[in-house]
Amino acid sequence: MTAPSHPTLWQHPALRALCAQLAAALLVVLLLVISSSLLAYRPSQMAAGLLHGGLAALLGRRLGLPAWWLPINALFVPALLLLNGQQLPPNALLGAFVLLLLLNWNSFRERVPLYLSGQKTIAALDALLQPLPANFRYIDLGSGLAGSLYQLSRRYPQAQFVGVETAPLVFALAWIRCLLRPNCQIRYRNLWQQPLAGYDVVYCFLSPAPMPRLWAKARAEMQPNAVLISNSFAIPGVTPSEQIELHDWRASQLLIWRM
Ligand SMILES: C[S@@+](CC[C@H](N)C(=O)[O-])C[C@H]1O[C@@H](n2cnc3c(N)ncnc32)[C@H](O)[C@@H]1O
Repeated sequence: MTAPSHPTLWQHPALRALCAQLAAALLVVLLLVISSSLLAYRPSQMAAGLLHGGLAALLGRRLGLPAWWLPINALFVPALLLLNGQQLPPNALLGAFVLLLLLNWNSFRERVPLYLSGQKTIAALDALLQPLPANFRYIDLGSGLAGSLYQLSRRYPQAQFVGVETAPLVFALAWIRCLLRPNCQIRYRNLWQQPLAGYDVVYCFLSPAPMPRLWAKARAEMQPNAVLISNSFAIPGVTPSEQIELHDWRASQLLIWRM
């Protein structure tokens, strides 16, 4: 099997969303010029913003963005217009942007935003870990705020838990959280640089984008009988050895591959 390559620039949804926003802005400006010169009609700023949102959402879909981008594209400019009227302190928007960036550092390059494993996932992981020898080794690739790692490390004090994370603020919070847990270590490390040999369980909750490349890495590095567990995201063309429905609001599943 050849290793899957990095996505091209155009495959990044954020770039296509930007194109949809810019194209919608051009269309709205054109429509505004036509309506004011031919019909002597000037819509309100918010009406133009809503028109822009509708066009951006449609264009985004035409450019192949998934359905969950619809509300983002539709509401982006109207939300900016609403905020503009609020007279926020000048640094508030910049601060919010930097905060989002530090939390979602991997959204653009890896196409993996921050969302967290829920309690049902943690309970299902717990059930999967019970039959293992007490000193098993477990790694969470992209460990987020380390919620599942922290809880599982308390439940299995003789096992070793490692998380790797590259979103700066997320890493810092997770690192502080696990500081007093001797069997739980959070590393500031890109998951692609993390060797997987020596781990009995490799857990990830990423997105569809990195799964083919992760499968190639897992096959090359994981030891026989170790398990790869993906929360919800499948590996195209590779049937899991086991699949567990979590019955949560996201309709999550644990997909499990035994090496
Ligand atoms: C969906 S969250 C899952 C968090 C945690 N594993 C959980 O289940 O609650 C994915 C995390 O992976 C991180 N991530 C994405 N790409 C990464 C990479 N190449 N190296 C390290 N972390 C990465 C993101 O910053 C994010 O915190």
